Amino acid sequence: MVEESSVTHAAGPVGGDSSHPWGTLASGFEQARAREDSLDRLVEWPAQRALLGDVTGLAILDAGCGNGAKIAQLANDGASASVGVDISGNFITPPPGVELIEGDLSDLAVVPGLAGRRFDRILFLQSFGYAANGVRALQTAREMLTEDGFILLTRTQPIRYAIERAEENGTSLGEEYFATEPFAYRHQSWNDHVTLTKRPYTMSDLLNTFSAAGLWIEAALEPQMPPEAAERYPHKQAVMDKYLGILMFRLRPLPGR
Ligand SMILES: C[S@@+](CC[C@H](N)C(=O)[O-])C[C@H]1O[C@@H](n2cnc3c(N)ncnc32)[C@H](O)[C@@H]1O
Repeated sequence: MVEESSVTHAAGPVGGDSSHPWGTLASGFEQARAREDSLDRLVEWPAQRALLGDVTGLAILDAGCGNGAKIAQLANDGASASVGVDISGNFITPPPGVELIEGDLSDLAVVPGLAGRRFDRILFLQSFGYAANGVRALQTAREMLTEDGFILLTRTQPIRYAIERAEENGTSLGEEYFATEPFAYRHQSWNDHVTLTKRPYTMSDLLNTFSAAGLWIEAALEPQMPPEAAERYPHKQAVMDKYLGILMFRLRPLPGR
């Protein structure tokens, strides 16, 4: 087990066209995530943690790790190597055994300190959409997996963005769901002065990306609010009822690829 902690800042290439604003967005995102009624706390992290299962003795890489709090939690839960990579470089002070590296998840193999390393779990938690090329990012991650390793990838339901844009533009759900032009997006509870550029995607796009990267879906999940949380935070249940939440996938390498 690595007992030393470290933070590495490096000027790397910027990933997809929506990565750049994260230098400014990072603190707003973390503040929103830390709220006791955040969907990350109520729905996403508990479901992500359950899909990971027992992490004792495992080497884990969190690609697009935010401030590093989740990978630090996994180190605390017994992971033997815990590495987080994020382009924002806005990290907590890493606890012993945790390495936090400023870098681009688009090509994990060239992130400083990762060349030649292997991981039992590679996480893309709400970060995969920022890869410059999704298929290439997943192919690289697949090659960094140990023999029994898997990728845990979560992504917002594409229907959510289609609903929002249909309301904004006075169009229909189908028109927006199947639109192909990038669109400007502001997240009101993160920082409504920062505009992200998002590329639309459909379910087929997502599933075809996994296949093209040589991965198969071992498990998929659309986590919902536990009943007691729904009762306590009805405004968040209303968000889930309207926008559905996020998709989660456990992905394993296709044999022979
Ligand atoms: C929505 S947040 C998710 C953070 C964290 N994974 C979580 O589940 O709480 C997206 C994260 O991706 C990071 N990010 C965006 N583009 C990136 C890139 N090209 N390479 C690495 N990280 C990136 C952002 O800085 C941000 O921390």
